[in-house]
Amino acid sequence: MYSKEELLEELRTDLVGQKLFLFDSLDSTNACAKTLAEAGMDEGAVILTDFQTEGRGRLGRVWQSEPGKNLLFSCIFRPAVAKEQAGLLTFAVAISIARALEHTTKLSVECKWPNDLLIGGKKCCGILLENSFNKETLTYSVVGIGVNVNQTGFEESLRASVTSLAQETGNEIDRKKLFLAMMNELDAHYKAAGKGDFRTVLQEWNRRCTMFGKETHVSREGVAISGKAIGLSADGGLILETAQGKETVYAGDVTVIQ
Ligand code: BTN
Repeated sequence: MYSKEELLEELRTDLVGQKLFLFDSLDSTNACAKTLAEAGMDEGAVILTDFQTEGRGRLGRVWQSEPGKNLLFSCIFRPAVAKEQAGLLTFAVAISIARALEHTTKLSVECKWPNDLLIGGKKCCGILLENSFNKETLTYSVVGIGVNVNQTGFEESLRASVTSLAQETGNEIDRKKLFLAMMNELDAHYKAAGKGDFRTVLQEWNRRCTMFGKETHVSREGVAISGKAIGLSADGGLILETAQGKETVYAGDVTVIQ
């Protein structure tokens, strides 16, 4: 693993990663980031680890990652945004990571609602946004990012839908360079997004999203909604044109019918 000093020496950001916490192993970088945020840690702080014993995925799932192969980190943000905009930070993070992945691999990276990045239709990155509110005010956001970088074996049930950068390029990827590229992109995009201006972010996210116009199923806790995905709502939900009219969904398992 690279050292904290090595990373800080090459970091050129104004905010993101300037406070950096590096661990060989943690339960979850999101859990650690939340503890630090509750204790008043500054925004821009990043918690990076080589392995998680209790990596968290969306919808209460587990995020698995082989030790020392991938990038697993969380950032603390304190965006000055209205409650309704709190979910939009995930799109700023998605396009930042997509740009860094593209720059590193030269492969094209797609966004899938709500927060997956895909290469060739397979997931290579998951993002987990955990917001904390005090009444109507957003006190902090923790954004966890898991990128499959150099892992090349995945369990049978995931093989058809999951990939890594090494698998797609056929080359081992320099995780340090990739991490620094991600820090730069996050730093650049948070400048406007952190003030509630998501215009550029949403334009780019919409351009990278290949779901629009396609039949899409969203299911959650046994309830399924199907329809044509037609766009994002102002607060980041997915708008589906269903047989009963337009419906906006905010979470769930998403399947796009190609
Ligand atoms: C998803 O389900 O797609 C979101 C996965 C997010 C995983 C990352 S890995 C780093 C950070 N810490 C966690 O416990 N989860 C996120």
